[in-house]
Order: sequence, then C-alpha cells, then structure tokens
Amino acid sequence: MAAENWVYMVTAQTPTNIAVIKYWGKRDEVRILPVNDSISVTLDPDHLCTVTTVAVSPSFDRDRMWLNGKEISLSGSRYQNCLREIRSRAGDVEDKEKGVKIGKKDWEKLHLHIASHNNFPTAAGLASSAAGFACLVFSLAKLMNVDEDPSQLSAIARQGSGSACRSLFGGFVEWKMGSKDDGSDSVAVQLTDEKHWDDLVIIIAVVSSRQKETSSTSGMRESVETSLLLQHRAKDVVPKRILQMEEAIKNRDFASFTQLSCADSNQFHAVCLDTSPPIFYMNDTSHRIISLVEKWNRSEGTPQVAYTFDAGPNAVLIAGNRKVAVQLLQGLLYYFPPKSDTDMKSYVVGDNSILKEAGLDGANSVENLQPPPEIKDNIGSQDQKGEVSYFICTRPGRGPVVLPDQTQALLDKKTGLPK
Ligand code: DP6
Repeated sequence: MAAENWVYMVTAQTPTNIAVIKYWGKRDEVRILPVNDSISVTLDPDHLCTVTTVAVSPSFDRDRMWLNGKEISLSGSRYQNCLREIRSRAGDVEDKEKGVKIGKKDWEKLHLHIASHNNFPTAAGLASSAAGFACLVFSLAKLMNVDEDPSQLSAIARQGSGSACRSLFGGFVEWKMGSKDDGSDSVAVQLTDEKHWDDLVIIIAVVSSRQKETSSTSGMRESVETSLLLQHRAKDVVPKRILQMEEAIKNRDFASFTQLSCADSNQFHAVCLDTSPPIFYMNDTSHRIISLVEKWNRSEGTPQVAYTFDAGPNAVLIAGNRKVAVQLLQGLLYYFPPKSDTDMKSYVVGDNSILKEAGLDGANSVENLQPPPEIKDNIGSQDQKGEVSYFICTRPGRGPVVLPDQTQALLDKKTGLPK
C-alpha cells in the first residue's frame, strides 16, 4: 500500500423492488433467512433508486456513513454483517494513475466512507432499505474488486435487509429461501430481464398516513410468533403460488399475474390481522383503491390492473399496458384529485409523460374528468382531496450499475467527505 493520501472511490445506482409474492417471516433472524420464497419486480431506477458512493483512503480513521446527507451510525449488526462479509471477499486493487495499490489483506485495516442518497422521499414509506443495502453491497463489491456474481452478492445484501437481495437484478426476481443453516443457498436469481414484459406500467399511490407503522422487521417477528395463518401460508400456499407466478411471468399471462399478485397481497395483510396484537398496514384509502380496482377488473371480465401493498398504506398498481394505465390514472385522479394549489407535475411524478396521454396536462383537466363507468354507486366521488400525497408512474427496470461520471459522486474526491 502506498503511503500517499489518495482517495479511491466508486459510485453505483441500485433500483428498489416490489414483491408480488411476499416475503413475510424469518426462520433465522440473524442471517435473515425467510420462511418462504418470494418474487418481485424491479422498478425503473430513473424514478426510484439509491445512489451510493463508497470511498477508501489511508487517511480515513474509521468507517463512516451518511444517508441523505446526515451521518448515521454503522454500529448496527446488519451493517456490520454486510461490511464483514464483503471485506472477507475483497481482492487486489490497483490504479496506477492515482498511485493506488491495495492488496487483499490491506482491506482489513483500511476504513471506508459511504454516502447514500435516495431519489425519493424516505418518508414516502417505499422500500428504501431494499435499494439501500443492495447499493451498499454492490458498490463495495466494485470498490474492493470482489469476484462474485450478483446471486452471491445477493446473499450478502440479504443480511442487511431481506428484500434487498432482490434488488441485485433487473426485471422479475425470485428470492429462493434455501434450506441450509448457513444461508449460503438463500439467494436471489433473475427470472426474466426488464425487457421481457416491458408493456407493464406501474403506478404507485403514495397514501397519506398519520400513524407510525410497525416496522417490517418487528411485524414479521410478531407474525412468526403468533399467526397460524403464516404457518399455513408458508407451508401450503406460497410454494404452489411461486410455481404459478413463474409460469405467469414466463408467458406474460396478465390475468394469472393479477390474480396471484392480488391474492398474495391480501393474504399477507390477512396474516398481519391474524397476528397478535393485529397489525394494520392498509388504511381506508388503501381499501378504497382495492375496491375501485376490483370493480373495474370485474366489469371488464378480464383483469386490467393488479394491486399489491407492502408494510404500509401505499398502493402499487400494475397495468397490463399503457392504454389501461392511462384509464387507470384518469380514474385515480377522479377519486383522488390533488389539492387545489398542487401542480399536476408534482402530483404525478416519475414518467409523467402519461399526463399528456391522459389529457391531464392542462388547467382544470381534473375537474373535467368523468366517473369511471363501472362505478355505479356513489362511493366517494371527488371528495378525497389529500388522501393521496402523490402518484409515481414507473415501469419494470434494470439492475444495479456503476456510474462512471465523477460528477455524480456523493463524496469529494480529495477529502472523501460528503460534497
Ligand atoms: C412486506 O426486507 O424490509 O415488503 O428483512 O427485516 O429488513 P427485513 O424486512 P424487509 O421486509 C419486506 C417485507 C415486505 C414484503 C417483501 O418485500 O417481500
């Protein structure tokens, strides 16, 4: 190792993911080993992602991390497990131009600076830990020249947060629960890449919530301890559903995909209700969105839109194609219009080119929306202002990438401190 005070760094971007067959319950809390397999779709990182810069320098005196600009502690066991696992696989690194030469063994003594940023508000209750831990592990693997494939890296990210292991790939991803005690076969694999089913459109309704939700970690611990339905789900229901979902994705069979996604989301929330004390993640707005989608799907005869809800009230709605997504957005904005002072472009974010297609880019366009024809009763017309904070329009997306452009780094190349 040369004695100069160089700073060597890597910046990477990693997507978030949403499960369509849910992970809920651990058989090993420390290694984060699940009680069932799960399947997710990776969301386009242009709209939802984490960017992480990791740096190493002989001048750093301890490992430090900044999340969204604020320094956070790395002392928790999840961070420590990820750092230990990745350090133990580090390789030799040499950058002649910068005068950097790090041998395998040096990594044990060298300290790291890590800066991470989500391009979506943490308060939105979207799975930031999934993208966060996946990005931490992916960027460190690049920095340290770790010679492991994405599945092997997923087993490290898993130890940061279970759902993070599925963010190591784009497209549709399966986390195989594995059977070994050491967790080495509890890894994510890619089912299909993001191009395989690229007419899907995903609209997320970020639902306003006043209550502080039970964290996934403690919620699933309580479910494992008290819910008989969880045992039945893990043993008898999910194994069959996983096979059916694999088929549905392979064949782009939207009807089966929708039936399975909705049923699995509803069963996950039923397990939460079956937990003692019961856990409520969805609220009235979530339930209203489910009713609207169910009514629409029924009236069309074939499913148009799938829904799924994680450990919070936000609705993730998956439309089979762009035309359906346009109708969906019109229906959603009819029932959940923005507050009068809200600009449409900040109410529908992500791929908001859809606003134009929906005829919703002009002034007063929301007021002119007609009620969806299938809704005959008058369940809440345009009186739900403020129930949805905003919508994110996105699609299936790619896996992690290194960002070679130095201007995107979150750490200063001379000091290794946040810019
Ligand atoms: C409902 O991965 O956040 O989103 O492993 O304890 O960190 P830990 O939990 P986490 O749980 C995610 C639960 C879920 C379903 C899913 O993503 O499969």
